[in-house]
Amino acid sequence: MPGGTWTLGDLTVNRFGYGAMQLAGPGVMGLPADREGALAVLREAVDLGITHIDTSGAYGPRVTNQLIRAALHPYPAPLHIVTKVGAVRDQQGGWPPARRPEDLRRAVQEDLQDLGLDALDVVNLRLGNAQGPQPGSLAEPFETLVELQRQGLIRHLGVSNATAEQVAEAQAIAPIVCVQNMYNLAYRQDDELIDDLAAKGIAYVPFFPLGGFTPLQSTALSAVATRLDASPMSVALAWLLRRSPNILLIPGTSAVTHLRENAAGAGLPLSDEELAELDKIGR
Ligand SMILES: NC(=O)c1ccc[n+]([C@@H]2O[C@H](COP(=O)([O-])OP(=O)(O)OC[C@H]3O[C@@H](n4cnc5c(N)ncnc54)[C@H](OP(=O)(O)O)[C@@H]3O)[C@@H](O)[C@H]2O)c1
Repeated sequence: MPGGTWTLGDLTVNRFGYGAMQLAGPGVMGLPADREGALAVLREAVDLGITHIDTSGAYGPRVTNQLIRAALHPYPAPLHIVTKVGAVRDQQGGWPPARRPEDLRRAVQEDLQDLGLDALDVVNLRLGNAQGPQPGSLAEPFETLVELQRQGLIRHLGVSNATAEQVAEAQAIAPIVCVQNMYNLAYRQDDELIDDLAAKGIAYVPFFPLGGFTPLQSTALSAVATRLDASPMSVALAWLLRRSPNILLIPGTSAVTHLRENAAGAGLPLSDEELAELDKIGR
């Protein structure tokens, strides 16, 4: 796979992974219109050599986890599934926080049940809200996850939608293996954090690597893509792999064709001149 491997604690994953959020129904609520198509995407991911799937009980809710189990259980040994807890869904499709100890214990139990596992490989504590990271201590919810880790229900911990201060606070409580925040070619709030985590051997997993619900659009990106006879998506993913060795990709798609395109495109070679041109987009 493009980009080689990275180690999350004691778990080796290919840096090119897959984000399962797009497999649920519209607005990440309910069942997909094409269940067989969703299962085919997951099977294709594993066939391509993807060993890192990102998911959450909040997707659907509980839909993508159940699809993952239906498509892939019993899981091949190299596959590692990363989940997130700390938000639920409301009637309007919103993502209200749910970070009381009882919320987190229930979310972990549901993930175990829906995925058919005895222990979860990596659990991210999702902080902040739909507007992004928000300041404030993560001690109480993070300590709840540490307790579940001690009980053997979680192998490794991470944080998501977190400020740099919250990342530091988590590390002072227990080791973390990854930080999952919004980041892409055009949105680069975490540049300093990425470099800091790279020095510490901690993975940075950008969500919305392709712009999420609003696809990345940039004249400079399109110009580089046209010159390389590649898609803007491929250039955006290849740039992320080159940005730092601790970046793991989890682009989302509900289409087998897009999954294949992204896996091939992320390996696109970029020259120093192209990298410099792309670097200016989000500065
Ligand atoms: N921690 C958090 O708070 C958080 C928040 C959001 C997401 N996430 C995670 O991050 C993962 C990635 O985010 P994301 O899926 O929302 O956004 P993304 O990867 O930036 O973009 C996904 C969008 O791009 C489209 N797409 C993908 N490949 C394409 C291609 N080759 N050509 C054209 N369109 C393409 C997809 O549509 P098609 O389905 O049509 O391909 C989908 O609409 C999620 O799956 C989820 O696991 C985490």
